[in-house]
Amino acid sequence: MTVQLDTAWEPRAQALADELEARGDLTDPAWKAAVAETPRHVLVPEVYQQDSNGEWQPLDVTSPSGLDRVYSPTTLVTALADRGTHREGISSSTKPDLMVRMLETLDVHDGQKVLEIGTGTGYNAALLSHRLGAERVFSVDLDADLVDPARERLASIGLRPTLVTRDGAEGLPEHVPYDRIIATCSVPVVPDAWWEQLADGGLLLTDIKRGTGAGNLVLLRRNGDELEGRFTDRWAAFMLMRHHHERPRVLYTPTDADAHTRTTSAPPNPWEHNRVVWFLAHFTGLPSGARFGMRFDPDTRQPTAGTITAPDGSHAFVMLEPTPGGKWSVTESGPTPLWAAVEEAHQAWRAAGEPGWGRFGMTTTAGDQWVWIDEPHGKYQWSLTV
Ligand SMILES: C[S@@+](CC[C@H](N)C(=O)[O-])C[C@H]1O[C@@H](n2cnc3c(N)ncnc32)[C@H](O)[C@@H]1O
Repeated sequence: MTVQLDTAWEPRAQALADELEARGDLTDPAWKAAVAETPRHVLVPEVYQQDSNGEWQPLDVTSPSGLDRVYSPTTLVTALADRGTHREGISSSTKPDLMVRMLETLDVHDGQKVLEIGTGTGYNAALLSHRLGAERVFSVDLDADLVDPARERLASIGLRPTLVTRDGAEGLPEHVPYDRIIATCSVPVVPDAWWEQLADGGLLLTDIKRGTGAGNLVLLRRNGDELEGRFTDRWAAFMLMRHHHERPRVLYTPTDADAHTRTTSAPPNPWEHNRVVWFLAHFTGLPSGARFGMRFDPDTRQPTAGTITAPDGSHAFVMLEPTPGGKWSVTESGPTPLWAAVEEAHQAWRAAGEPGWGRFGMTTTAGDQWVWIDEPHGKYQWSLTV
């Protein structure tokens, strides 16, 4: 479905560009012009938002309120997948403030070729095409039913970047090398194809994520066979890269058998309040696939505890209200002591002087990838490939 251009979008797009500049999300006039002159509503004909019951409802993007939402710094969920018991967002148009911050971070120059992983709606490909010329923009997404309509919509506004249906982990070898690669889905490690396809001296911007919310954007420069760079100061999160033929996620029921309660000095809810600690916990013992949640008081509906569950049935919950001694009560059960991993991460973070994201960096070589604090071969290193 292609939405017809109307005249009401232009002042809204200009207002969005002005707002992003005023907020400091963009400083480069070329990106400002790209936002002001790109009809985002044409690229997001189907948008879904959750109602108060958590049900996904379609948004009419051509109504005045729909247009207001489309031309605002908001992520728009644009494709859903049926997961049996519920529907889940599988594609979205990233919020424009984050998109332009990423594009400025990518330090794009005239004449450069850019590969995007995660075409989605095509909005980011449209911004890149406006800035560089569509012949220098390449973008891949996993599903033809995302890529083909995006190609059609981009063509309807006169933009013809190269869009290919492909698992982004393979990159796009047909058009190498790329001066810049930008991934708008997250990965647990950098796929080999990306550094192989990046020009020497080129930049790669991706979200490295080890679990839900456990990671951040990292900007890596290629130097020979090595990529190296720092995580960005401001935290951002993208949906995890999907693959065809991957097993559906198993929903597991935690058991409270063998539950053991004690106090902890690691504050609860690192996934909300200290994402650096939450990231580190994925190197200090949290099993792959661990998930966090909350417990609520049934009467007041206020949150009372943070929870972590793991696929092996292990479970931990930590009370949000501190004990009179200024600690927190934590209960762990199952084969893996989940909160112990958070405590170890918290201790490592404190020992390193409580670093923010700006002190974290990452290096990839032919056989290894690791995260570090301050320097690649210093005291604090965690391997991403074990
Ligand atoms: C946040 S959306 C991308 C937003 C997009 N750049 C835009 O401007 O609308 C993330 C996208 O990553 C895509 N994706 C997930 N796994 C992928 C994979 N293995 N290869 C390529 N794309 C993938 C999703 O289908 C989804 O469209």
